Amino acid sequence: MTANIIDGTKLANQIRSEIADGVQELKAHHNITPGLAVILVGNDPASAVYVRNKQRAATEAGMIAEDIKLPAETTRDELSATITSLANNDDIHGMLVQMPLPEHLDPVFAIDKLPASKDVDGLTSTNSGLLVGGRPRFIPATPAGIQQMLIRSGYDPNGKHVVVCGRSDIVGKPISLLLIQKQLGANATVTICHSRTHDIETITRQADILIAAIGRPRFINSDMVKKGAIVIDVGVNRIEAPERKSGYRLVGDVDFDGVSEKAKAITPVPGGVGPMTIAMLLKNTLEAAKSYVAQQ
Ligand SMILES: NC(=O)c1ccc[n+]([C@@H]2O[C@H](COP(=O)([O-])OP(=O)(O)OC[C@H]3O[C@@H](n4cnc5c(N)ncnc54)[C@H](OP(=O)(O)O)[C@@H]3O)[C@@H](O)[C@H]2O)c1
Repeated sequence: MTANIIDGTKLANQIRSEIADGVQELKAHHNITPGLAVILVGNDPASAVYVRNKQRAATEAGMIAEDIKLPAETTRDELSATITSLANNDDIHGMLVQMPLPEHLDPVFAIDKLPASKDVDGLTSTNSGLLVGGRPRFIPATPAGIQQMLIRSGYDPNGKHVVVCGRSDIVGKPISLLLIQKQLGANATVTICHSRTHDIETITRQADILIAAIGRPRFINSDMVKKGAIVIDVGVNRIEAPERKSGYRLVGDVDFDGVSEKAKAITPVPGGVGPMTIAMLLKNTLEAAKSYVAQQ
């Protein structure tokens, strides 16, 4: 068997075009342009690339994109003041703090300082609590993107056994909570694995849908996958590639070549979950702007 490739770039472009239509509608009927603010503290090069991609995508969708760059030595009070100022800015409907923060700043403090109504990453206690309670508002972008990929590619998780490898707050936990929701496009039976899971391959081999979000290059090999499974690779890992000018290349958490021979469908890295994450961030920003309009 050679797996179907789930093309995240193509699906994300579809979603981004739907969002651009929604932005135009909001402008035409309410004279409101959705605004997204991204706060970047410090000089982490990978974070700078992520922020640039988010800003570019927001602008392409017709949104206002504000990029707030703060120096690495920013204090907790200064970060807090920046967040408060954006929280009070009516032109900004969605905002986020790019992670990771420099070590002296507490990410939990920064996240919970965000107003839940503008928390388009869906990470505040309020928004994660709403997801737990089955009334999601802003679903974290990567899990939301994975769910859309499954639905739009015809692999509805309804009734399926989903095994999630990874239990982080931004991917593993929220995707598990999302797929057990009692609603269309979810209704899955979910098992969560992590670094302390014993005999992980016995569990991954039971998955109808296997989601790998662990941050270990090519960790999931073909022996760990059931024949005909759907495999979603969230991992983004840099490995050395001396033949390339940059000296590195990106690979996922799944051994793509080996697993492609066994799976029914698989997402590539790059070009899989990554583009979907950005698309869903824009979707949350559009929804935030619509909620703002509804409250006027
Ligand atoms: N494409 C995208 O848009 C996107 C978005 C977010 C993240 N990512 C990528 O996805 C990957 C995961 O990100 P993350 O933020 O969730 O990472 P994380 O916070 O580092 O969490 C990794 C999780 O994997 C588990 N784990 C580590 N080694 C394991 C092993 N050998 N066996 C089983 N579980 C293991 C950890 O278990 P413990 O909890 O026990 O430590 C942890 O729960 C990274 O490569 C990241 O770059 C991609």
